[in-house]
Order: sequence, then structure tokens, then C-alpha cells
Amino acid sequence: MLAALYSTDGDPPELEIRDIPTPSPGPGEVRVRIAISGVNPTDWKTRKGLTGRSASPPGGFQIPNQDGSGTIDAVGDGVSTERIGQRVWLLLAAHGSSYGTAAEYTVVPAAKAIPLPDDASFELGASLGVPALTAAYCLTTDGPPAGRTVLVSGGAGAVGHAAIELARFEGAASVIATVSGPAKAALATEAGADTVVNYRDSTAADRIREAAPTGVERFVEVAIAENLELDLSVAAPGAVIVAYAADSTSVAHAPVRRLMAANIALRFMLLYLVPAADLQAAVARTSAALAAGALSALPIQRFSLHEAGAAHDAVEGGAVGKVVIDLNQD
Ligand SMILES: NC(=O)c1ccc[n+]([C@@H]2O[C@H](COP(=O)([O-])OP(=O)(O)OC[C@H]3O[C@@H](n4cnc5c(N)ncnc54)[C@H](OP(=O)(O)O)[C@@H]3O)[C@@H](O)[C@H]2O)c1
Repeated sequence: MLAALYSTDGDPPELEIRDIPTPSPGPGEVRVRIAISGVNPTDWKTRKGLTGRSASPPGGFQIPNQDGSGTIDAVGDGVSTERIGQRVWLLLAAHGSSYGTAAEYTVVPAAKAIPLPDDASFELGASLGVPALTAAYCLTTDGPPAGRTVLVSGGAGAVGHAAIELARFEGAASVIATVSGPAKAALATEAGADTVVNYRDSTAADRIREAAPTGVERFVEVAIAENLELDLSVAAPGAVIVAYAADSTSVAHAPVRRLMAANIALRFMLLYLVPAADLQAAVARTSAALAAGALSALPIQRFSLHEAGAAHDAVEGGAVGKVVIDLNQD
């Protein structure tokens, strides 16, 4: 099969296209013919050694990309043959495995291949794993967001987009999103945000308070170091702020008394370390929203497998919309 891969000895770890043996599913695994491979920041960061994680030992290879969608074409021992032909979306395919989704086929434990409804596109399926599961966990780890006011920072990003749609689906009373400009505001509005605020405006806090007079109860936060002051200035007592992103230099200065006096919980999460039961719950919530037609793909930026390196560069460069590798495109 054709695969985009990098050597785990490579320095710098550039992606190359190689013809390698098609993997067979082991016990408990399924093989998926990939239609679309979704690219997330974690994929290029892992490739460049910025996450401290590598599935493959030195001297081996790594096919990148955690997310993807496609069709099961073979199953290993212990997996029902009825799954052959099933459309699926994948989660954490390259976590603990050399076989990510930037290839014609991957093999994953059967539980990482989640049924994709017929009316959901492969592009949407490849947008779910990292973004939607992160969003679902952030939104629900302290109880469902139903009836609550939610603020999603970076509402046009992949996680932010999923968080807005999931918050809507879960019955949030109001969803406020922050963005940096009009194009991203349009994306956040389209996803279902009731109020969209430019976080760079000096009046951002006032605008959020107008939309949430009794305060924001849940925050899905992409930039805690930059936004903690804004968040605290609009938080309701007992609010929960879940931070899911940081670069290696991020430092947030926590005003302990203000946090304590308002009973505010500041929480951090990394999808790779979410306990199995919580991950399963996030998959269930995402699947329920998907089945209800409540999730959508961001505008797609499509690359071929031969352009896998360019796809990674696009995400690293802060592409707006969803970057995917289309395995059916030459
Ligand atoms: N902890 C985890 O398990 C986990 C899971 C998924 C993703 N992540 C991380 O989360 C980050 C976002 O991932 P993604 O896939 O959603 O990326 P993305 O699609 O590039 O979206 C990031 C969004 O954040 C916005 N943003 C940047 N700085 C901001 C600020 N100060 N305030 C508000 N919004 C801001 C960006 O827009 P503007 O720059 O225009 O504002 C952009 O829309 C990445 O660093 C990724 O590695 C972590």
C-alpha cells in the first residue's frame, strides 16, 4: 500500500511516500481502507518531536495522523465479520501504533473504529477523533452543559467548532464563542454560536457580560495563558474552565484568591491521557450528536497523499478550516 511516513531516526522528520506491505489485522483489530485522513496539530507536533510521544521505536517508521475515516475491509480474530463493509471514523489510530491514517490502509483495535452513519460524509468522519472527543470531554467532564452558559474560545478552530456544535446539541442555554476576525466569526455563527465576540477588542469582556449577565459557567479554553483574565472577568461563581492547549512556553498567572473566592475550577486535559471510561463517554456523546445530524465539517482544505507534507505544513501554518488528505485524490 502507499503510505506517507517518516523514519523515527529522521532529523528533520520529513514525510515521504513509500510503497510498504499492507498490514493485516491482528486479534481484536480491524483493517480500514482509508477514504479521508484528518490532520490535527498533534500530528505535525508529534512528527517534529514536540509532544514527547512517538509510537514507534528508533529505526522504525511512523505513519502519522490520528484521525480518519473509511471502510472496514478485513477483521482479525475475535471481531465479527459483519463489520466488513462498515463505514467508520477512527480515533487515536497512531497512538501506540506505527499505522496512522495517512495511508491507503490502517489497522486499529476494533473499538477505535466507530460506525459512521450513511448520511455523514467521510470528511466529517475524519474531523471527529481529536477535535470532537476533546470538545466532548471539555464540555462534559464536570457534568452535562445542558442549561448552562458556555464560552468556547477560538470558536472557528477544529476543537472550537466541535465544542459549539456539541454544546448546542447537549442543550446549553447559551453558547458564546470568541474569534479573531470576521471570517472566523462567520464560521462560529454557522456552527451555532448565539454570540460571537472578537477577543482582541477592548470591549470583549463587556460584550460577553451582555450575553451572559449571570456569568459564564463552562469554558472550553484554547489559550488559557492569554485568556485567563478575560475568562475570570466573565465567569459565574462555580465556573469550570477546561484548558486543552498550550505551547511549551505558555505560562498562566493564576490569581489564586479570585479563583478561590468564586469557587472556580481550573482544569487541564490531554486527550491521550483521558481515562478509558471518559473517552468512551466522549465517543458516545459524539456519536449521538452525529446520528442526530448535529455535527458538521468545517470548510475542507484537501490534499492528496503525495501532498501529505504540505497538509502538515498547512496545519502548522494555522490553516482556517479542516485540512484533510483525500486517499481518492491523485
Ligand atoms: N489537550 C489535547 O488533548 C488537545 C486536543 C486537541 C487539540 N489540542 C491543541 O489545541 C490547539 C487547537 O487545536 P485545533 O485543532 O482546534 O486547532 P485550530 O483548528 O488551528 O484552531 C485553533 C484556534 O484557536 C484560535 N486562537 C488562537 N489563539 C487564541 C486566543 N488567544 N484566544 C482565542 N482563540 C485563539 C485560532 O484562531 P485565531 O488565531 O485567529 O484567534 C484558531 O481558530 C492546538 O494547539 C492543539 O495542539 C490539544
